[in-house]
Amino acid sequence: MKVSFSAPAKVILSGEHAVVYGKPALVSSLDLRLKTTILKGEGESLENLNVVEKVVEEYLRKNKIPFKKQSYRVKIDSQIPIGRGLGSSASFSVASVASFLKFLTGKNFSKEVVNNLAYRVEKHFHGRPSGIDNSASCFGGLIFYRREFEFLKVISRLNFKIPKNIENKLYLVDTGKPVESTREMVEKVGRLLNEKPKETRLIFSEVERVTKQMVVAIVKEDLNFFAKAVKRNEELLEELGVVSKFALKKLLPLKESGVFKITGAGGEKGPVGFVLYVDLKGKGKEVLEKTGFSYFKFKFDDKGLLEEK
Ligand code: PMV
Repeated sequence: MKVSFSAPAKVILSGEHAVVYGKPALVSSLDLRLKTTILKGEGESLENLNVVEKVVEEYLRKNKIPFKKQSYRVKIDSQIPIGRGLGSSASFSVASVASFLKFLTGKNFSKEVVNNLAYRVEKHFHGRPSGIDNSASCFGGLIFYRREFEFLKVISRLNFKIPKNIENKLYLVDTGKPVESTREMVEKVGRLLNEKPKETRLIFSEVERVTKQMVVAIVKEDLNFFAKAVKRNEELLEELGVVSKFALKKLLPLKESGVFKITGAGGEKGPVGFVLYVDLKGKGKEVLEKTGFSYFKFKFDDKGLLEEK
């Protein structure tokens, strides 16, 4: 017996950090996948997989769904860079939850169930994640996400795609793995909010406005409006103190041909993870080479979790 599921990476287009404080975020899934395969037989288990197994079994017991425990081995194949804001951990959680559910019961479960369990797994790994990563990975496409309460997360899958005229201009630039963890960056913004509540709340509200502008830009297929939102979003993230001077200096050549923003938690001392770049003037490759960073073209995914045969 063999079960296998894959789940895509994600990119936060707008709203990181503000999303922790109840503001919306716009997330897109990305055509890079992580695949979990579970096979019958003996094998070494990974610590992270024990968490998935525990969460899945708890759910099955609680809901009185019959399941059969048997020895297994696991294979993980991933195209997603680790620890740089592209949601490798969430796609691992989503693909592994779906695989365990099927391995133990022989059945497929809804994406809603998989997503809820993946969120529980993510909480084990990251403390208090907003839930955007696992939602984008599980459902795929464009997700407008807002956490109203811990028990009410509004996950709206938008029924349109990133239009080609915008997608064609997008690159993802790898500045490297930040020194700080996502949790540390979230705590840093938390401290800023404590010290300067009024100013910081104003930034969050402005981020919300920008996130909505980005949705409108996508609907209207308006590249320039999209780029304006990206630029403003970056300025606000810089005000939150999550974009290091180191990265800004290195990314300077990109301004010759377009605009950029960090995507994800960012970094304070060194690298900031991945950066979303809008190459407005078409000199992309030339200016990207100047940064010395590796990069690739943004490719939209709208499939989310998939069973692999
Ligand atoms: O580092 P990433 O890509 O997982 O993004 C974190 C996004 C934050 O808004 C900073 C935190 C969160 O849990 O939403």
